[in-house]
Amino acid sequence: MEIIDVLAICGSTREKSFNRALTLAARDLAPDPFRVEVWDDHTGLPHVEAAPGRPFPAAVGALRDRVSRADILLLVTPELNRNIPGRLKDIVDWLSVPAPPRPLMGRPVMLMSASPNRFGGAFAQLQLADLLRRAGAEVLTDLDVTVGSAHRHVDDAGNLVGEEPRHEVAQLWRRLLARTADGRQAVPV
Ligand SMILES: Cc1cc2nc3c(=O)[nH]c(=O)nc-3n(C[C@H](O)[C@H](O)[C@H](O)COP(=O)(O)O)c2cc1C
Repeated sequence: MEIIDVLAICGSTREKSFNRALTLAARDLAPDPFRVEVWDDHTGLPHVEAAPGRPFPAAVGALRDRVSRADILLLVTPELNRNIPGRLKDIVDWLSVPAPPRPLMGRPVMLMSASPNRFGGAFAQLQLADLLRRAGAEVLTDLDVTVGSAHRHVDDAGNLVGEEPRHEVAQLWRRLLARTADGRQAVPV
């Protein structure tokens, strides 16, 4: 089976971030034929600016190209004030600028989130899904993961150790694979 290229972006750069732990677990638990690469160039990315006709900053152009090549985009979001953090909004806004290549247009996107409360970032996911749909992405809303009480599932070294969320992540890949294999969902765009 051909490799399914997944680009993962986490909306937190905090050391021992719960969402980063979830992102790395999603990468490590992905079975063949998924290959998950974690994008991490947060410091290189400027804040979004509306500058029609002006070339994209190099880091933005590189990110837009990379997302355009991915079969699936995986966005892992913290929840701040029931919304996504500004850095993730910047990323989605840069990706949504309607210049070729249109990285989000028709792109399958999976969402994950982790937070210390019992909702696990579900409100942020709703906001993110809305934003992505507006940019033309195909949000795989039935293939999401929310990790509530995240402090109980991430160890001091920043690893996702909770059995339940790890099982949920592994299960998600299996469900996506089953769907891909039986052709109900064409993953590559
Ligand atoms: C300003 C602020 C607002 C927050 N608002 C929410 C919230 O609305 N819902 C929630 O579940 N957690 C909220 N939190 C807690 C974050 O989920 C928590 O800090 C989490 O660890 C951030 O993700 P990270 O560990 O991946 O960096 C908030 C935290 C801050 C600092």
